[in-house]
Amino acid sequence: MKPYYSDDLVTLYHGDSLTVLRELPDASVDCCVTSPPYFGLRDYGEEGQYGLESSPAEYVETMRALFAEVRRVLTDDGTLWLNIGDSYYSGRGNPGPNAADEKQPARRGWIRPVDRPGQSWAKPKDLLGIPWRVAFALQDDGWTLRNDIIWAKPNAMPESVSDRLATRHEHLFLLTKGRRYWFDLDPIREPHSDVSVRRAQPHRADPGRTYREGDPYEGVGGAQTLRLDQMNHPLGRNPGDVWSIPTQPFPGAHFAVMPQALAERCILGGCKPGGVVLDPFSGSGTTGLAAAKHGRKYVGIDLNADYLDLSLRTRLAQPGLDFGEASA
Ligand SMILES: C[S@@+](CC[C@H](N)C(=O)[O-])C[C@H]1O[C@@H](n2cnc3c(N)ncnc32)[C@H](O)[C@@H]1O
Repeated sequence: MKPYYSDDLVTLYHGDSLTVLRELPDASVDCCVTSPPYFGLRDYGEEGQYGLESSPAEYVETMRALFAEVRRVLTDDGTLWLNIGDSYYSGRGNPGPNAADEKQPARRGWIRPVDRPGQSWAKPKDLLGIPWRVAFALQDDGWTLRNDIIWAKPNAMPESVSDRLATRHEHLFLLTKGRRYWFDLDPIREPHSDVSVRRAQPHRADPGRTYREGDPYEGVGGAQTLRLDQMNHPLGRNPGDVWSIPTQPFPGAHFAVMPQALAERCILGGCKPGGVVLDPFSGSGTTGLAAAKHGRKYVGIDLNADYLDLSLRTRLAQPGLDFGEASA
């Protein structure tokens, strides 16, 4: 299959991601970081787009089939970082926000799947639980689910709801092909909290003294040598599975883009240096930008050529990539 664009570091394909993935060789990428269209919420204005399936079950099957193909193109020690948000069923029957309005006036008045009345798969006001439905389907299909990371959004859009809590998080699942996979905690460690630094000091510590790695001290069983690494790793602590990262709008993109810091963390932790990162829903190219910033190659796919062009003009522009703020 002929790429839409290709240089030494970046390859972009224009088309349906499942169709394109079927053309890619086995074990040709080391890591996949992606955020597919969420269920029932948005019209990207392209025939064959995902997310507008007529039920959650159909959507889950689309995702299962797509990620089965991702599994084939991943190396055996590869990782998949899947960001996916949830949706509520309203059933109110009113047309919702529609990004395709300008491109396709004929679709004006279009009703999103989550707003269509009388659906058998949900009751009005139901939270659909889409991320977990997808995660379970991927597990059943052979993936190993390693983490459910909560992406907490400190600047989440306000919601005009008064009978439930506002949504301020999305899920980021880490999935692997098996038990052994490439993972490096060190580049994504974060500073120890003051509390854990204090807790790492030895029993019967001399007041006012800060103990360091290798220091002798009088412990419970007599003279001992302090092994700080057993309590507090010298490079910092495990960042844990709740990531507080602000959302970042991107001019020109009519959809939610992934924050660069989120993509960077996934790549630093889950892609070997010099490896290849895939995003089958490339959009504005956030994953590609994060990959380039950290010396990885990038393969992106998108159904919408305007988005590929936008990413080539901006985030993936060569030379002098705009790396944005240091954020890992
Ligand atoms: C949520 S956006 C991805 C945003 C991206 N992570 C970023 O940071 O810009 C989803 C993308 O999937 C694309 N898309 C939808 N259906 C597709 C399909 N069947 N094949 C390939 N791309 C598709 C849309 O055009 C859109 O760019």
